[in-house]
Amino acid sequence: MKWAVFVLVFSVISAVSLALTEDGLALLELKSTLNDTRNVLGNWQATDETPCKWTGIACYPQDQRVSSINLPYMQLGGIISPSIGKLTRLQRLALHQNSLHGIIPNEITNCTALKAIYLRANYLQGGIPASIGNLSHLTILDLSSNLLKGAIPSAVGRLTHLRHLNLSTNFFSGEIPDFGALSTFGNISFIGNSDLCGRQVQKPCRTSLGFPAVLPHAAIPAKRSSHYVKGVLIGVMSTLAIMLVVLLAFLWICLLSKKERAVKKYTEVKKQVHQEASTKLITFHGDLPYPSCEIIEKLESLDEEDVVGSGGFGTVYRMVMNDCGTFAVKRIDRSREGSDQVFERELEILGSIKHINLVNLRGYCRLPMSKLLIYDYLAMGSLDDILHEHGQEECPLTWNARLKIALGSARGLAYLHHDCSPKIIHRDIKSSNILLDEHLEPHVSDFGLAKLLVDEDAHVTTVVAGTFGYLAPEYLQSGIATEKSDVYSFGVLLLELVTGKRPTDPTFVKRGLNVVGWMNTLLRENRLEDIVDKRCKDACIETVEIILEVAARCTDANPEDRPTMSQVLQLLEQELMSPCPSDFYESQSDYS
Ligand SMILES: Nc1ncnc2c1ncn2[C@@H]1O[C@H](COP(=O)(O)OP(=O)(O)O)[C@@H](O)[C@H]1O
Ligand SMILES: *[C@@H]1O[C@H](CO)[C@@H](O)[C@H](O)[C@H]1NC(C)=O
Ligand SMILES: *[C@@H]1O[C@H](CO)[C@@H](O)[C@H](O)[C@H]1NC(C)=O
Ligand SMILES: *[C@@H]1O[C@H](CO)[C@@H](O)[C@H](O)[C@H]1NC(C)=O
Ligand SMILES: *[C@@H]1O[C@H](CO)[C@@H](O)[C@H](O)[C@H]1NC(C)=O
Ligand SMILES: *[C@@H]1O[C@H](CO)[C@@H](O)[C@H](O)[C@H]1NC(C)=O
Repeated sequence: MKWAVFVLVFSVISAVSLALTEDGLALLELKSTLNDTRNVLGNWQATDETPCKWTGIACYPQDQRVSSINLPYMQLGGIISPSIGKLTRLQRLALHQNSLHGIIPNEITNCTALKAIYLRANYLQGGIPASIGNLSHLTILDLSSNLLKGAIPSAVGRLTHLRHLNLSTNFFSGEIPDFGALSTFGNISFIGNSDLCGRQVQKPCRTSLGFPAVLPHAAIPAKRSSHYVKGVLIGVMSTLAIMLVVLLAFLWICLLSKKERAVKKYTEVKKQVHQEASTKLITFHGDLPYPSCEIIEKLESLDEEDVVGSGGFGTVYRMVMNDCGTFAVKRIDRSREGSDQVFERELEILGSIKHINLVNLRGYCRLPMSKLLIYDYLAMGSLDDILHEHGQEECPLTWNARLKIALGSARGLAYLHHDCSPKIIHRDIKSSNILLDEHLEPHVSDFGLAKLLVDEDAHVTTVVAGTFGYLAPEYLQSGIATEKSDVYSFGVLLLELVTGKRPTDPTFVKRGLNVVGWMNTLLRENRLEDIVDKRCKDACIETVEIILEVAARCTDANPEDRPTMSQVLQLLEQELMSPCPSDFYESQSDYS
């Protein structure tokens, strides 16, 4: 009998610990009112403990609460269940480009953490929930292309963080309240609603007698807007700080377990050493399957015609082998005092680092007159060349290519910072060190070289002009490179991808700003559209917003407040899942 009780208690306890979280249950309720013809929600199973691995769901790492629902372009029908109100920590709801009908449930205003709502291109009816003013963190509200009607509630004006509003192509009517956030948006946010009137759409509202109506919202004090900028700033900062703490806690745990694995990573470097009187060739990992004599012969015959570029450390050549295998050879012009053995041992470590988003170092050769490093050859050259050597009209890189470059570069750098032991600080992240292969996959180059070749105390004099705009303020001051100064440079790189401008572009320099200050100014003025490279026609607001947010955090003046590279990577991976329209068409053609 006692045993039976024990077993019963035990099974109850284990059943409890295995039960799905409340957020998971709420999601299942949500699923039950959706018509999922493509079965994309097939892995939303009641038998799981958490919903965090379900398609389209992202969680806060620390407590497994749901932070994001990302299911655009999924051909979902049905209605949005009021159970959405139970996801009280939800930050991002992206259900655009589906076939949802019914109303936007009022319960959505229970999700007070919401920062972005994308419900564009559905068949939603009814109006905007009256208590939308509760969503005090909301920065993006895209309800365009639905069947929504009624007046625009003045509560929308109270959303002091709102940076992007699109209510286009609906059936809204009446006067657009002209206060708070609502007075900062122009006609572009409201086009395609023929019955709207008000200052924003340059259409005066008239009473039935033909006189201008008394403005019903005139009573609301206009003073608000002067405090508005400050409020936005403080609000954004505090939410960012909270998110950072949450992420840091999780990553600390992750890092501990990762480090143990990373220690074992440096297995013995297999080398093939060829040594003559004063010539020495080392190839790493058998990465250069050619006879030493052929390699040396090719290296010795490199000349002006083979030059593909030159940078801070020397000249770069293209070397083509007899079988047409192509490599890049970097001739080191200057080197630090120190023994060759130390130099070669450090190079071996660099040669053992392999990652798809890092330029592979295949070998090293010491000739009587020079030191040569042999790398993979990346056919498309550097991001710097591609981005800036085009005219103002052509589009050198589509928005989606830029996103791919942002993600890949983040992967490469996160690998250097977190998966290498000893960890490697790049010190010189900039667009000329991001090389692209023929699929536009990015490969980070020159990692580890700065430390090997540059004297610590001479740091400021060695800063070449092109590098200047990328360096973190504290690095410029102290000359001490840290992971966080790399993160800053990566943030500047993101801004370069978004704006298409070098960090030293006259647009900001003549206003006494750097690219970071310029971005922050435009963000404060709600001029998201002005930031994006005009040549980039396919940029979509959902992902621009994410990249800018990540860039803003990376370039925080305080290094402690910047995320780590692995947090950056996690943010990008989590949030860039929802595709832009052009992605959608690509994946559509995959299906057919
Ligand atoms: N592995 C490579 N494959 C193809 N081109 C390369 C490679 N490495 C360098 N280059 C070219 O040479 C230029 C100079 O390279 P690098 O010396 O690394 O410049 P920096 O010191 O400015 O970073 C690059 O901008 C790129 O165009
Ligand atoms: C779900 O969608 C399909 C195709 O769009 C439709 O035929 C079916 O009737 C819908 N089911 C429900 C329950 O709405
Ligand atoms: C609203 O949120 C509270 C918790 O903050 C929760 O208890 C309640 O069930 C939610 N209401 C709805 C309608 O989902
Ligand atoms: C949301 O706003 C309504 C009034 O508009 C209020 O009654 C309600 O308590 C608010 N809910 C929350 C969770 O703040
Ligand atoms: C608003 O939405 C419409 C329709 O979805 C779209 O064509 C338009 O470009 C959007 N406007 C802005 C400013 O994003
Ligand atoms: C929107 O406003 C601008 C001026 O602010 C005007 O040039 C443009 O024609 C307007 N567009 C529409 C569709 O009304």
